[in-house]
Amino acid sequence: MVTRSIAGPAIRVRGLEKAYGGLHVLRGVDFDVARGNVFALLGSNGAGKTTTVRILATLLKADAGTADVHGFDVATQSADVRESISLTGQFAAVDEILSGRENLVLVARLRHLKDPGAIADDLLRRFSLTDAGTRKVATYSGGMRRRLDIAMSLIGNPSVIFLDEPTAGLDPEARIEVWDAVKQCAGRGTTVLLTTQYLEEAEQLADRIAILHQGRIIVDGTLAELKQLFPPATVEYVEKQPTLEEIFLAVIGRGDRRDATSTNSHGGRG
Ligand SMILES: Nc1ncnc2c1ncn2[C@@H]1O[C@H](COP(=O)(O)OP(=O)(O)OP(=O)(O)O)[C@@H](O)[C@H]1O
Ligand SMILES: [Mg+2]
Repeated sequence: MVTRSIAGPAIRVRGLEKAYGGLHVLRGVDFDVARGNVFALLGSNGAGKTTTVRILATLLKADAGTADVHGFDVATQSADVRESISLTGQFAAVDEILSGRENLVLVARLRHLKDPGAIADDLLRRFSLTDAGTRKVATYSGGMRRRLDIAMSLIGNPSVIFLDEPTAGLDPEARIEVWDAVKQCAGRGTTVLLTTQYLEEAEQLADRIAILHQGRIIVDGTLAELKQLFPPATVEYVEKQPTLEEIFLAVIGRGDRRDATSTNSHGGRG
């Protein structure tokens, strides 16, 4: 791991451009991520979130612009960048046949670290996977897999971690488990760049939120700053759909005296 301490932001992106054939996906992307911060990159499907992450993780070359990660240029110092980061992709990369503990030990061995068993046990504990540690990953829930995936990405203490849609496809409970895992990383001073399509996820986790749209960052700020971009909240009256219970009560003649198929105010009982 590169332990060189750097001044300035952990990630600095300027004028990043990328096209696939005729498709100009990034058209001049600029942002900074302060060290130790959680930064959420939001955008709809195809906005270019994964493309941006892949460029920052040195897996893809930009057509124009510059990007530094942990003080190293992704184009000219890619080996140093790779030593400083870890990347958890959009789809969990854990081995199904192995147990959770075996997955962790494997990665620690591949990174030539001392005492892989102790590293594995420590991470299992931190991510509440100790009880499941010796079970095959094939038996894990989606949330457990994702947590293991994030735990694996922390082996070797990278300075910056990239999480590409860490909660995609998870149910609400598993999502909260993964949020706790991300908060764990941030609590230890790791810089986190995550991509997401969920505004709520960004609200929960991020110090700063940026929205990627049509190839550019159109909004970049704290949650409080983003909220100020919208007009003050107004009270609106919305037609309420009846609940199944209200329909049932109306049909059996005990609910609202009005027509049971009406969607207007079913609040009162007749
Ligand atoms: N290797 C490739 N070759 C051609 N087009 C690509 C390639 N990779 C991505 N694209 C296109 O670039 C655009 C941006 O893709 P990208 O995966 O970066 O978006 P994303 O914001 O991560 O989307 P999602 O939310 O679906 O993950 C999409 O239109 C995609 O089809
Ligand atoms: Mg993506």
